[in-house]
Amino acid sequence: MKNWSSQYEARRRTAAEALQAVHSGHRVYVHMGAAAPLPLLHALCGQASRLQNVEILHCITVGEAPYTDPAHCGIFRFNALFISGNTRCAVQQGRGDYIPVFLHEIEDLFTNGTLPIDVALIQCTPPDQFGYMSLGTDIDLSLTAARHARHLVVQVNPRLPRTCGDTMLHVTECHSIVEATHELPEFQQGEITPAHRAIAAHVSNLIPDGATIQIGVGGIPEAVLASLSNHKDLGVHTEMFSDGIIPLFESGVINNSRKSLHPHKAVTSFVLGTRAIYDYIDNNPVFEFLSNRYTNDPCVIAQNDRMVAVNAALEVDLSGQVCSDSIGSIPFSGVGGQVDFIRGAAHSKGGVPVIALPATAKNGALSRIVPRLKPGAGVVTSRADVHWVVTEFGAVNLHGRNLRQRAEALIGIADPKFQAELEREAAGLFQKS
Ligand code: COA
Repeated sequence: MKNWSSQYEARRRTAAEALQAVHSGHRVYVHMGAAAPLPLLHALCGQASRLQNVEILHCITVGEAPYTDPAHCGIFRFNALFISGNTRCAVQQGRGDYIPVFLHEIEDLFTNGTLPIDVALIQCTPPDQFGYMSLGTDIDLSLTAARHARHLVVQVNPRLPRTCGDTMLHVTECHSIVEATHELPEFQQGEITPAHRAIAAHVSNLIPDGATIQIGVGGIPEAVLASLSNHKDLGVHTEMFSDGIIPLFESGVINNSRKSLHPHKAVTSFVLGTRAIYDYIDNNPVFEFLSNRYTNDPCVIAQNDRMVAVNAALEVDLSGQVCSDSIGSIPFSGVGGQVDFIRGAAHSKGGVPVIALPATAKNGALSRIVPRLKPGAGVVTSRADVHWVVTEFGAVNLHGRNLRQRAEALIGIADPKFQAELEREAAGLFQKS
């Protein structure tokens, strides 16, 4: 379209004008990750006095979440598709809710009438010469949300990287456009501990040369990436990645050459990290950013031969049930893409599904390998889905093993100081009444 610039001008508004589209009772979708449009969110909170009962819906975001302020109770209520650090307190204090759902199924909720979106607040790059604007760091659920919202407000920010893949909206798809330049918030990585390094050493032994990897964010994934410098011809098919992937691209360890699906491309849907990764993905054609309904579809993941999926957990019981989204009944994070990738890797030719966790929590005071999950704990990966479980004390494969064998294997990778107690508990679990 040649005359897109006049269409752009016709849609330009101030944030306050654009947010008049939000009414009481609406469901408002907020762009994910570092692309959450903070100036629009602050402007929305500035209109709190005319609003009530507005649902704010999003998955993980980075940076401020002003609508979770206790002062906004009754005006905004947060509904989490994944709980991140900036919204955890609101959900745990009852000012928000949590929806357990597989990441690859969320977009269907927007399109099938379960969670219709009234207004989507999305951040984009400035338009290119054809009038297309990239959703930058986060395609995830957000491109689908933008296209299915009844009203689309786009904040244009030149600091957002322009990413390749299926990442673009056209100017004419927006109802209003707000120009606001600001630096993207950064995601602060947790510390990499000696336990993370020991876990990474076991995990890297499970990753063959030529593997395609899924890797998340946090101490374990960063330690795993750092342990792969002697691997060859790795590929990437993941829902997200962070800064730790850059050295592996630069050294040629990741070259995507042996991928059976999307060869020569690293498939992803979002990044979480610092300015370094935002700059690395900017206009970088090796990265194919696609929606989660595709990247996380287990049938798609399984088309990658030698798919290795590494996901973290909070607690694993002696039968292999994996809790990853709650501490007991207290919601902590989300289902995310864990099951999508565990199942996808399980069905890939030569695939390796891995759950990795430190053997203890709270400075060694608590075993994370437990006879029974805490009351109310959410099982994310079921004991029928689980394959490899890795701690700093070793790696065991539970697939095809009976309950007694699983307990024995898991006790073997628990912290030695908890092993005798776990053995006593296991004996009780398997006694006939
Ligand atoms: N009992 C009590 N507290 C526990 C615990 C347990 N069994 N296990 C962990 N904790 C505490 C830790 O002590 C820590 O508390 P602190 O922050 O006060 O130190 C906190 O819970 C987080 O534990 P940690 O192991 O540091 O978590 P993490 O940041 O490595 O994240 C998951 C681990 C499981 C929460 C995260 O990977 C997740 O949300 N996974 C589900 C989604 C997913 O796998 N998606 C696909 C990949 S992106």
